[in-house]
Amino acid sequence: MMDKSEVINLRSGVSTVGIIGAGTMGIGIAQVAATAGCEVFLFDTDQEQTEKSIRGLRATFEKLVSKSKITESEADEIMERIRPVVSLKDFSDADLIIEAIVENRDVKKKIFSELEDYVSEKCIISSNTSSISITSLSADLKNPERFIGIHFFNPAPLMPLVEIIPGLLTRGGLAEEIYALMKDWKKVPVIAKDIPGFIVNRIARPFYGEALRIVEENIAKSEQVDDAMKTLGNFRMGPFELMDLIGIDVNFSVTKTVYADYFFDPKYKPSLLQQRMSEAKLHGRKTGRGFYSYAENAEKPTPEKDEKLYEQIFMRIISMLINEAVEAKRLGLANDADIELAIQKGVNYPKGLLAWGEQIGFDKISETLQQLYDEYQEERYRQSPLMRKLIKN
Ligand code: NAI
Repeated sequence: MMDKSEVINLRSGVSTVGIIGAGTMGIGIAQVAATAGCEVFLFDTDQEQTEKSIRGLRATFEKLVSKSKITESEADEIMERIRPVVSLKDFSDADLIIEAIVENRDVKKKIFSELEDYVSEKCIISSNTSSISITSLSADLKNPERFIGIHFFNPAPLMPLVEIIPGLLTRGGLAEEIYALMKDWKKVPVIAKDIPGFIVNRIARPFYGEALRIVEENIAKSEQVDDAMKTLGNFRMGPFELMDLIGIDVNFSVTKTVYADYFFDPKYKPSLLQQRMSEAKLHGRKTGRGFYSYAENAEKPTPEKDEKLYEQIFMRIISMLINEAVEAKRLGLANDADIELAIQKGVNYPKGLLAWGEQIGFDKISETLQQLYDEYQEERYRQSPLMRKLIKN
């Protein structure tokens, strides 16, 4: 095992990391931090979950060792640096806390106020929330200046992007310190504004929302939507496959938060279909069934190919996504380069959306949106005021 002085990260001073929540994201972030050389303490109210996640990680490493992607001793060292703990009191030595529990504002706030009694004055506290305002999470802390959003993407060890989100009360300079730390952790960091969904989850909303609507309205089946996006758009995963990976409960919570936090802007209106799936606890891969079944011999339905329908599906979803990227540009949510980078490194889109708009033609995107707007008479399909300005004469 490495000596603590060897693993101390000089630029950020972060060598011991406490992670709260040992689910999909918590264990992934634990792997990233431990691989970078940090000591990691992992806490979950459900101790069985912590053990299950650690067992899962060990199995992943065994596969990586067998494929010679990592040596056995490297894998052992990383595993040794991840220690399960049973109480928040065990975080007294932590330099940085990353919370990755259920996406619920009140539950998160409760844990942060408890945590402040146990961690040192210098300890940085952060949340991996996908959508909840960082400012709101920090507001009741005794020292909100030390609080920041550090948002990883799923799966955390594979997706390079990390959004760093300072809230209104976060001290100046902390975002830059975390930026340096994330570089040391071999991540691609971008600094984002504290707006609902930050960069990626705001821009990517229609990938799920529009896909759900298409299925809800019986225009196509989920496997056809997935197939259309993969074959025409070169997306690695279709929207339904991705929702199953993210977790339908998590994706639904994010959608609801973004919708409510934008004061019920119809653009972000959640789907009843997703609500029903969530109610039924069909949460996707983690529960064995979501839009698809992950049971042992389960066969994936074969999509019925239909060229015209596929083109319609692709243009509808891609136009909505490009519209969001254009609006993000107009509002200066990040610079153009970061808007492009975020979506490719966070959710693996094959191209940046602004470049994609240019390629398809903003006139075509605008036309598609106008048709939807006329058909539905809904604000959901309104165009960014910048769209028409981008159309070349
Ligand atoms: P998950 O459901 O896989 O894991 C959450 C874990 O937190 C569970 O093991 C649960 O037992 C534990 N937990 C719940 N309440 C707790 C408490 N009070 N104290 C300690 N542990 C508690 O959820 P997942 O997907 O890992 O998401 C966690 C957070 O990360 C959420 O805020 C989510 O929005 C965010 N996130 C999720 C992504 C995804 O694709 N799933 C991507 C990026 C962020």
